This record gives sequence, C-alpha cells and structure tokens, in this order.
Amino acid sequence: MIKSPFVFGKVASNSAFINRELETQKLKNNFISGINTTLISPRRWGKTSLVKKAASELAMENTNIKICYIDLFGVKDEEEFYEIWIREIIKASSSKWNDWLKTAKEILKGIVPSFSFGIDPQNDFSVKLNLEQAKKNISDIIELPEKIAIKKGIKYIICIDEFQKIAKYNDSLNFQQYLRSKWQHFNNTSFCIYGSKRHIITDIFESQSMPFYRFGDMIYLKKINEIHWQKYLSLSFSETNKSISDDIINRLIAAVKNHPYHIQQLAHQIWINTNESVTDKIFNDSIDELLTFNEIMYIREIDDLSALQISFIEAIANNEKKLTSKEVISKYKFGTTGNIHRLKKAIESKEIIDLFENKPEFIDPLFELWFKSKYLKM
Ligand SMILES: Nc1ncnc2c1ncn2[C@@H]1O[C@H](COP(=O)(O)OP(=O)(O)O)[C@@H](O)[C@H]1O
Ligand SMILES: [Mg+2]
Repeated sequence: MIKSPFVFGKVASNSAFINRELETQKLKNNFISGINTTLISPRRWGKTSLVKKAASELAMENTNIKICYIDLFGVKDEEEFYEIWIREIIKASSSKWNDWLKTAKEILKGIVPSFSFGIDPQNDFSVKLNLEQAKKNISDIIELPEKIAIKKGIKYIICIDEFQKIAKYNDSLNFQQYLRSKWQHFNNTSFCIYGSKRHIITDIFESQSMPFYRFGDMIYLKKINEIHWQKYLSLSFSETNKSISDDIINRLIAAVKNHPYHIQQLAHQIWINTNESVTDKIFNDSIDELLTFNEIMYIREIDDLSALQISFIEAIANNEKKLTSKEVISKYKFGTTGNIHRLKKAIESKEIIDLFENKPEFIDPLFELWFKSKYLKM
C-alpha cells in the first residue's frame, strides 16, 4: 500500500508544501530584522504552514533564534493567556527541560507560578497561575521573553495564532494597550501575529483608535497560483503510479476555487478512488462523496440562519452584482438597505462569506457547491 501524497487538516510541510517562496522570504526578512508582522487570510489558506516553514528555516540557519508558538484558539481569558504565554516562552528558551524551571525561578521571582510535569516533560508541561498575584507582577510576565533573551543572548520570535481572541477578553482594550506599551520596546523579541477572522484582526491593527494600530507589517495572504497546483498534482499522482489528465487537474482546481485545503482534500479523495488513471466518473463521484460527507454539517449551518440570511446567501450564490439595487432588494425581499448591511455583518461573522474583497466569496467552496447543487434544488 502506498500512502496518499496529499495533506490536509494539518500543517503542510516538506514536499506537500508548495510555492509561497516570496512570502517565506518576506517573513524571514521581517523576523531577522525584528519587524513585527501580522498575517491575515481566511481559514485554511496556509497561514500556519507558512509561518512554520519560514520560522523553522530560520531557526535552522541561526541557532540563536528561538521560535515560540502560541495558539489562542481555546484561550478564553487573561489568566489563561498568561499561563500559555509563560509556558511556551519558557519551553522555547531551551531544548533541555531541566533548564526551564531554573529560568522561570530566576526571572519570575515574585510570581512563583506552579509548574507541573507529566511523564513526558518535553510535551507535557503546564503552568498554573494565581491571577491576583500575577496582576501585581504583570510587567515581569509580559517582559518575560525579552528578559530571557537578554540573559541568554538569544532572540525570540513569538508567533501568535488566532490573536483576535483577545478582543473578547474582559476589558480587552486596556489589556491590548498594556501589551502594546510593553511589546513595542522589545529589541530582542519580535512578533508574528496571525488569524482568520479578517474583519476583527483588521479592526485591531488598522483602526487608528486601537492600541495595536501600526504595530507592524500587514500581510494579506493570497491563494496559491494554479500553476503551482498543476505541477504538484500531476507529480503527486505520477510519483505514486497513478495518472491524471491536465483537463481533470484544471477542473479539480476550479471546482474548489483554488482553495489550498480543499484542493488537497479533493485530490486525496480522487487519489484513493483511483487505481490507475482518473476518469470523469471518478472525479464526479469524488466530489459527490465529499458533499455527502459534509452534508450534515452544512444542514446544521443552514439551520442556524434566518430565512433572510439564507436569501442573502442565495443572492450571492446567484452572482447578483448589486445587492442594494431595487431589483435585487425586491427579488429577495430584503426590505431596506439597512437590512442588507445587517445581513452582511451576520453572514461575515458566521464565516460563511468573505466580503473583504470587492467580490463576495464563499469561505468554503464545497459549501457553495452543495448550496447551489443540492440545497437550492431541494
Ligand atoms: N503552501 C502550501 N502548499 C500545499 N498545501 C497547502 C499550503 N498551505 C496550505 N495548504 C493546505 O491548506 C491546509 C490548511 O493550511 P494551514 O496552514 O493550516 O492554514 P491556516 O493556518 O490558514 O488555517 C493544509 O493542511 C494544506 O492542505
Ligand atoms: Mg492556522
């Protein structure tokens, strides 16, 4: 049995990582120069894979650089933020876990967090904090990486995923204000911040009234050009002794609108369904399988919407050019232009449609296919 060459749902690396050369170079340059970077794209376009690629290349070239990854996805308040912050910064400071406690004790004198180690200390290490006590020593916590960096003669790159989560914390503006006031004085620590809630991240970093305004370089990640996918798909099939025609490759890419995750997912489905060479039937069946597989989830998403919100999605699926025109408003019974504004906000915050670019786009191209080919025909 040969293993499928396609990767989705986890970080793309090595031969499954394609293109992004300019972006990798740009990130590495920023990291070396200490320029803070904010990276934004809808989910599953390749932010995590790109950051890991750039950061790990740099860490290999320069052992003085320590990379620290912090994912705020499940981190729901300030207290948890400090815990993961301390844990990951200490972990990144050394590959030897017996160094960690020593470092923590030296630098976090007043705080005495409790540390616990599991059977495998390298991967099972946690920090518990008393928030009251932490708040009194907050600057020691926030300045932790910079202090360790100076002491050990290293440089930190702190990569923070799903950064927009902090916008939901109690008293978030004060918290952001405090982070910014400290972080901007760091000389040995720089940040790479990324996330997929485009409108929230943009609001944090691009509104003049917000603490993180002009924090660093903003990069809006684009999709990968189809030329690179064509090469990758063709090679991945042929190297595993299967063949796929250029025509089907192009249809595959088009069916999922060039979406990195979904190209890999659909290619994988086609690959496992193919013995020797991909036929039209295999191609169509594979798409159907993915739609059927996701159907329950899609139905749940639709159940969560109001009738007007569904009509709004329908208008976008039908490629209506001017959503606020009289014809469109009366055809879909939107009522007022004020309603349209509210509908846009709702659909955007539910992450169904991205209205950021001039042309509205479904965030999940398979949902779009299902919505058009199944839902609207029910
Ligand atoms: N450079 C790339 N080359 C090949 N596939 C990629 C690349 N970037 C992303 N992908 C595909 O997209 C999926 C999601 O990537 P990920 O980095 O987790 O995105 P994000 O962090 O933006 O949600 C990966 O599992 C992979 O299938
Ligand atoms: Mg990610």
